[in-house]
Amino acid sequence: MEPLIEFRQVCKYYHMGDTTVVAADHISFQIFKGEFVAIVGSSGSGKSTCMNIIGCLDVPSEGTYLLSGRDVGKMNKNELAEIRNELLGFIFQQYNLLPKLNLAENVEVPLMYAGVNKLDRRRRALESLERVGLREKWRHKPSQLSGGQQQRVSIARALVGNPSVILADEPTGALDSKTGREVLALLQDIHAAGNTVVLITHDNSIAVQAQRIIRLEDGQVVYDGPSDAPEAVVTPRAAGIRQGGGDA
Ligand SMILES: Nc1ncnc2c1ncn2[C@@H]1O[C@H](COP(=O)(O)OP(=O)(O)OP(=O)(O)O)[C@@H](O)[C@H]1O
Ligand SMILES: [Mg+2]
Repeated sequence: MEPLIEFRQVCKYYHMGDTTVVAADHISFQIFKGEFVAIVGSSGSGKSTCMNIIGCLDVPSEGTYLLSGRDVGKMNKNELAEIRNELLGFIFQQYNLLPKLNLAENVEVPLMYAGVNKLDRRRRALESLERVGLREKWRHKPSQLSGGQQQRVSIARALVGNPSVILADEPTGALDSKTGREVLALLQDIHAAGNTVVLITHDNSIAVQAQRIIRLEDGQVVYDGPSDAPEAVVTPRAAGIRQGGGDA
C-alpha cells in the first residue's frame, strides 16, 4: 500500500543573515490512509515547519515530500494550491471563520474554490454541519457561537470537500479543557468514520488521544510509534536525566 503522506529525509533551513536555522533535520515518516497521527514536540521543535510542508504551504529545502504519491517539492504555486484544495482539510487554532458569512457560507468556501455549483455547495455544507451537530444554526454568524461551536464549524469546513487528510494545528489551543475534550472526541469520531487525521500539538495529553505519535525535538524525529507505549510521552532528554541520576 502506498503511503498518503511520505517524508523522505526532509530538511528545512531558514537563513538569517549569515546564520542558518535548521528547522527540519532529515525527517522521514510515512502516514497511511485511515491513520490518526499526532505530531508532538515542544516549542521550536519543528511542528509548524512540518505542518506547513504537509499542508503544501511550504516546500522542503532538501529531501522529498510525497503527498498521495506526488512530489510536492516540484510543484509551482498554482499546483500547490490545487493539490491543497483537493487533498487537504485544515483546522486551525483560531478557527479562521469569515465573520460576515453565515455558517453554511463559511463551510462552503472550499467548495467555491473547487468550482462546485451553488445548490450542491449548500446541500453539502448542510450535511457537513449536520456531522458536527450544528445544522439548525446554519443561518447564524460565527460571532453568535461559542468557541467550541466555532471550532466545530471549522471542522465541518475541513470535511466538506471530502479531503484525503484532515490537518489540525493545535485545534484545542484556544479552548477550555472540557470544550477541548469535546472537539477531540469529534476528531476521533471523524477518524472512526474512515478519515485520515494528522494533529499537531505541543500537549502530550492531547497527543495520546491519537493512535500514533511522531515526536519531534530540535527538528528531528525522536519517537515514532503507538501513542500508548510508555516511551511515547517521555522526551529523550527527560529520560536521560532519569538514567543519569542527577548529573543534569
Ligand atoms: N520563518 C522563519 N525564519 C527563521 N527561523 C524560523 C522561521 N520559522 C521557524 N523558524 C525556526 O525554526 C525552528 C522550528 O520552528 P517551528 O515554528 O517549526 O517550531 P514549533 O514546533 O512549531 O514551535 P511552537 O510550538 O512554538 O509553535 C525554530 O528554531 C524557529 O525559531
Ligand atoms: Mg508552531
